[in-house]
Amino acid sequence: MQNAVEKIITMPYVDFMAFLKETNRAPGGEKMLTEMIKNVFLHSDAKFLHIACNTGSSTREVAKLTGAKGIGIDINENMVTTATELTAKEEMSEQVSYKVMNAQSLDFSDAEFNLVFSAGGVAFVPDKKKAIAEMVRVCKDDGFVADVVMYYKKDAPQYIIDEMNNLMNLNIQKWGIDYRVDTYEEQGLKLFHKYEGEYAHVDHKKLLEYCRYMVNRPELSELSADEKKAAEYKLFRIMSLFTENHKYLGASLLIFRKKSVNEQWSLFSA
Ligand SMILES: C[S@@+](CC[C@H](N)C(=O)[O-])C[C@H]1O[C@@H](n2cnc3c(N)ncnc32)[C@H](O)[C@@H]1O
Repeated sequence: MQNAVEKIITMPYVDFMAFLKETNRAPGGEKMLTEMIKNVFLHSDAKFLHIACNTGSSTREVAKLTGAKGIGIDINENMVTTATELTAKEEMSEQVSYKVMNAQSLDFSDAEFNLVFSAGGVAFVPDKKKAIAEMVRVCKDDGFVADVVMYYKKDAPQYIIDEMNNLMNLNIQKWGIDYRVDTYEEQGLKLFHKYEGEYAHVDHKKLLEYCRYMVNRPELSELSADEKKAAEYKLFRIMSLFTENHKYLGASLLIFRKKSVNEQWSLFSA
């Protein structure tokens, strides 16, 4: 039997983030979501779907800023439970709900939603093409499919990519922004709006302060001193790797339109 500290040390990345009760916001933060909301024209009668919603922080934010009704789906049952609890705490349960579901096979009818978005979650789905095809299927004609994508804008050393893949159990490659856009356009979508985000530079001191803050929050008060130390050390190692990786990375908001009509070529539009 593993003791509590060993459990923390061996916990996979997504479970560790859930253990820390990290709300997991969109890459590039609040600005990305605001930029998405400004450009997808949601109204209070609209319905949106959030793919791989984690603890639902982005689901709630979109609902708050637009008045639209939202559903978040995630394959991880713990995430859906936490998202549901946080939503009840904010008294938003009538507007926002969550379901355990695989993004590769969505249990919704065709053309149900005005907006189907991911705030970086599609990157975690094993078969991204299948997930994107499903996002397109459940999106209404002339509706929007959006994602916040990370991509390599500089040539990252292979060891960083390998360590990222190891840590998160992913298969990241040195994908650039064109590859990201193509993956969506291959499913019949048309790029509607692109917004380039920014990453803040984080030095060692700030990194340490962040890790200390994360493990010493009142929500984790039941942890022992040893568990906190193990969690702080593990988080520091993860965030140091992310800081290294961010040196080569860009984050872009991509909004696509599911066009019902094939528009004519407009010669002078920029
Ligand atoms: C790190 S989170 C990204 C969330 C994002 N930052 C946000 O604000 O929406 C990735 C999530 O993808 C979920 N996930 C992975 N594979 C999935 C799948 N096949 N279907 C649905 N969710 C999936 C994980 O459980 C995790 O909660």
